[in-house]
Amino acid sequence: MIYLASDHAGFELKSSLAKFLREQKIEFTDLGCDSPERCDYPDFGHKLAKKVLENSENRGIGICGSGLGISMTLNRHAGIRAARAVNLDDAELARRHNDANILVLAGRTTDEKLAEEMLAKFLATEFEGGRHSDRIEKIEINK
Ligand code: RB5
Repeated sequence: MIYLASDHAGFELKSSLAKFLREQKIEFTDLGCDSPERCDYPDFGHKLAKKVLENSENRGIGICGSGLGISMTLNRHAGIRAARAVNLDDAELARRHNDANILVLAGRTTDEKLAEEMLAKFLATEFEGGRHSDRIEKIEINK
């Protein structure tokens, strides 16, 4: 399952990506927030991390204003590799080299079309494995 989550500053971009996924007939679950009313990104970041960790096939999209606060929150969870992307190369390498399970976007500065392209790239790209597996193993410190 693909899970989407944002705070108020990511609400607009999240809504636009939800529309994109519906058009592409890609199933997803929106974990909120549900309006542009002010809320706190850690609440949605923790919720998203927990859902993504339920199954290794799950993917997440996390959005806050800058993408920074929600990244910090998500990456506190062992097993979450949340990658903030600002271009297509980031979105691809996040999967190919880092086996990222969550794509993080900056709601206030990311163009909707680019966000759609980054999301599509993120979902379509496989992890390369090999030497990169050893490296991502080394990321975890609380095993
Ligand atoms: C909210 O104003 C903003 O601080 C938040 O969305 C995020 O950018 C924090 O890192």
